[in-house]
Amino acid sequence: MHSDFTRYLTAKRTVDDRALNRVVWAQLAEAVRARQTALTHPLRVLEIGAGVGTMVERLLAWRLFDADATGVHYTLLDANPTLLASAQTRLTHLPWWLQLEFAPADALDYAARATATGPAQQCDLLIANAFLDLLDLHTALPRLRGVLADAGLFYFTINFDGATLLEPAIDPAFDAAIEAAYHRTMDERITDGHPSGDSRTGRHLFTELPAAGFEIRSAGSSDWVVHPVGGAYPADEAYFLHFIVATMEGALRHDPTLDQPRFAAWIAARHAQIERGELVYIAHQLDFCGIAR
Ligand SMILES: C[S@@+](CC[C@H](N)C(=O)[O-])C[C@H]1O[C@@H](n2cnc3c(N)ncnc32)[C@H](O)[C@@H]1O
Repeated sequence: MHSDFTRYLTAKRTVDDRALNRVVWAQLAEAVRARQTALTHPLRVLEIGAGVGTMVERLLAWRLFDADATGVHYTLLDANPTLLASAQTRLTHLPWWLQLEFAPADALDYAARATATGPAQQCDLLIANAFLDLLDLHTALPRLRGVLADAGLFYFTINFDGATLLEPAIDPAFDAAIEAAYHRTMDERITDGHPSGDSRTGRHLFTELPAAGFEIRSAGSSDWVVHPVGGAYPADEAYFLHFIVATMEGALRHDPTLDQPRFAAWIAARHAQIERGELVYIAHQLDFCGIAR
């Protein structure tokens, strides 16, 4: 019922807009301007796990790029071609200096190919929003480092970091058991036979990024905080919340550590809280930007 991923990613836009860390953003903006000034070719941007393209819209609205510089070539990469098709439909009326490319591919395969091809395939700015927590950092980051040119910039944002808070409480002990079980599903997730992501990705990036050649210049929290305003959720954020609750249901539907009838009632109660404009949802996350070394 609440399983339209395209609508979820679109609804997430306003939630991310509020959450993205403004200190990290300011540091990125300064570094991008400096790099654009120094370049004689268009700034090459690669966004991995780009989804329906909301980050491009944001970067334009927030004026990240210098329109007077040598232009921007922006590649949106995602493993899901349906999402990229939706991005292509959304992203019209672009400024003349922005050229888009759509790459339906696995990020790590693409990185391996770019690394093998050398500088011609590398980028000046690598972006990943709500994406790195789906990967096994230890194996993925060194591969992703290969797509960045020397002294290239990175902007890795909305990295989940170990707290899913839902208020008001239904039953504090059961609420806590569900949160722990939900995080465990992230820690134990296997994709294509390999470990993929964990529930404390944000804090792990402080060691994993430098170890892979990404020097952190700025970091800060980017918690999602979704709450009703005047009794209603802004934009399409009620859908965003229903999707999150449905995701928890899907992840834990067969979890043997939870009393399943009680869990089903808990899920129904959370959806009802959203319908009544009562639910507050907070997810702790971290943003990073810096330079490749
Ligand atoms: C949580 S969504 C975030 C999408 C977008 N960055 C946003 O914030 O709206 C994660 C995205 O990563 C994509 N994805 C997952 N694994 C991938 C992989 N190995 N390579 C490329 N894309 C991948 C999914 O298709 C999805 O669009």
